[in-house]
Amino acid sequence: MDAIRTITQRTLQFRPRIAVVLGSGWGDLTGYLSEAVQIPYAELAGFPQPTVAGHSAMLWLGYLGRQPVAVMSGRQHGYETGAVDGMAVPLQVLRQLGCHTLVQTNAAGSLRRTMPAQSLMLISDHLNLPQRSPLVGLTGTERFVNMVDAYDPALREHARQVARSTGVALFEGVYAWFLGPQFETPCEIRMAQLLGADAVGMSTVPETILARHLGLRVLALSLITNLGAGMSQEQLSHAHTLAQARIASQRASSLLANIIANIDSPP
Ligand code: HPA
Repeated sequence: MDAIRTITQRTLQFRPRIAVVLGSGWGDLTGYLSEAVQIPYAELAGFPQPTVAGHSAMLWLGYLGRQPVAVMSGRQHGYETGAVDGMAVPLQVLRQLGCHTLVQTNAAGSLRRTMPAQSLMLISDHLNLPQRSPLVGLTGTERFVNMVDAYDPALREHARQVARSTGVALFEGVYAWFLGPQFETPCEIRMAQLLGADAVGMSTVPETILARHLGLRVLALSLITNLGAGMSQEQLSHAHTLAQARIASQRASSLLANIIANIDSPP
């Protein structure tokens, strides 16, 4: 793959072990990288060209502590083109470069009043409400991916321990994926609550499916930017999401850096 050649030419012997996707509010993580090399997605064949304000399009390769990581600042969302496999090539490339784990982040709306804006939530499972899959069209039996424990239980326990030891409150719950780009109706929010979801958002689920197909372990964290539509008087907008995300971004990124730096290689 051409992108692999481009990356290895720039980084020589560097082998990332953890792939990270940064969503809205999580961009400060790159400030924790050492020996970082940046490559714009535009120079990487098959990487997406995001169209969303507040999302950049840059691959960072460097270290978090002693952990070699590949950080994708910017992802493709299903609502941008209708395709939900926009992150297939980037994840294949990072898997081939040596990543064993994918850490995902996003901004999300809360379905629980007790989990207000600026909360951090570990994703325990998801609801694929659009019932879209990035694996449609593939052949072979590997496409029948087992989605039990898609969000790795050992990595979740690790994240809880890091949060506890650093005194950061960390909720845990189910993420319901809506395709977007429109926000949900109040009725859709009530539906998601009835279905057992704790948060709603417009990303992450396709990448989790792709990652499990590639055999990557997955950990995912949401930064809550608002209560779901109709749960408060707040007017939802992308600007509001970004403004709320900015307030919590330092705490979120510092927790994330601690979690990633201390992830062990799989047995
Ligand atoms: N809905 C969907 N996506 C979101 C929301 C929301 O309320 N907040 C942040 N991303």
